[in-house]
Amino acid sequence: MKERAVFATKFGAIATTVGSAVGLGNIWRFPYEAGIHGGGAFLICYLLFVFLIGVPLLCAEFSMGRGTRSNIFGAYRKLCPGGRWQWSGYIGILASLLILSFYSVVAGWTVEYFVSSAMGSLDFSNKEVGHAQFVALTTGWRPLLWTVIFLLSNFVIVIGGVTKGIERAANILMPMLFLLLLIFCVNSLMMSGASEGLRFLFSPDFSKITPSVLLGAMGQAFFSLSLGLGCMMTYGSYFSNSTRLARTAVTTATLDLMVAILAGVIIFPAVFSFGLSPEAGPTLVFEVLPFIFSKLPAGSLWSALFFLLLFLASLTSTVSMSEISISFFCEEKGMSRKRATILNTAIAMCGGVLCALSFGVLSDFTIFGMTIFSLFDYASSNVCLPIGGLICSVFVGWVVKQRYLGEELSNKGSFRFRMLWWISFCLRWICPVAIVVIFLNSIGLI
Ligand code: PHE
Repeated sequence: MKERAVFATKFGAIATTVGSAVGLGNIWRFPYEAGIHGGGAFLICYLLFVFLIGVPLLCAEFSMGRGTRSNIFGAYRKLCPGGRWQWSGYIGILASLLILSFYSVVAGWTVEYFVSSAMGSLDFSNKEVGHAQFVALTTGWRPLLWTVIFLLSNFVIVIGGVTKGIERAANILMPMLFLLLLIFCVNSLMMSGASEGLRFLFSPDFSKITPSVLLGAMGQAFFSLSLGLGCMMTYGSYFSNSTRLARTAVTTATLDLMVAILAGVIIFPAVFSFGLSPEAGPTLVFEVLPFIFSKLPAGSLWSALFFLLLFLASLTSTVSMSEISISFFCEEKGMSRKRATILNTAIAMCGGVLCALSFGVLSDFTIFGMTIFSLFDYASSNVCLPIGGLICSVFVGWVVKQRYLGEELSNKGSFRFRMLWWISFCLRWICPVAIVVIFLNSIGLI
């Protein structure tokens, strides 16, 4: 069998996991979810989930991946031969394909906005145009084209293998995106509605914490940290033996959180300055951003640069979600990497087209009261990922020998890892109980 690739440098390993975590989830999904779910109340729940569930699960996924050097199926199988745990891999594959489908549509919008800004045709002039412009750009057939173009770009990167393309791109792009966000942040803080926007985001009204806010915040934590579907497990399998897993987990979670909060600080002051509603849903960020750029000198230039980087950040995320089904097709089904990549792209294209059309001709077609796009989003983030996370936490917390986690987190005893009891406690108790309670609560069973 071919030897598995290993990330060339430690910085590369962190940059790549952060590359998977940071993407549209932070910049597009976080503000819209926070907007719908009451701002501060959502943020508090989200913070708790990132550190109480996210970090321990990242440690668990990294440990399973690096210890077994396998994809999600192989990892469960090697650690518990003959068990049925590996079936959770199917949930992971389903989730990855659902996410890849709707994610590519939003990434396609970023390409559309990039092209329009670069050609100077994005209108920044007044507050009525944001929505109309979004509708004009995202209904009809053009979004289909951009979705397909995005998936093809993803295909080209993925087919090149693991260490080369992705690592190199992530090393340069992530810091650049961060810098740009900081600049936009200062710009937003100078707007007239800044204090109202900050109050919305940072002062929690605890009475707003409902089961659906809790489920939304938990789903967002899973989505944003790429957890519950075996993605971080697969990346963990490429880590070198000297990578410190818990440190990588905390760094990834912290940077991911910072980007989400920065996005909130950019978006909400603008929402209130321009008298818009924070509850616009998935379209929020795209309707608000043009106003933000209108406040900057040479707005179209900033706008083009931002959407270009956002497009690239989305690519580093989709590359990681593609890796799940591709490593499954290659390592479990014996397909060549090329065929596996083609299959992955073809499935995502079918799903992507349906999602793209649900903003146009299929907008009235709903299942459980949701459009296809929202259904894919909801089913993956709020259902599949938490279930995958539940299985992983129970498996590492209760089924695998306690020593395993300790050995992986201390690099086989090469240093003392003091927080093992805490990570273990979270995996055994906090994660499973929280996930089950929130889940049952939100469907009205308890
Ligand atoms: N975490 C990515 C983001 O925030 C999305 C993602 C989900 C990537 C699941 C991989 C797997 O954009």
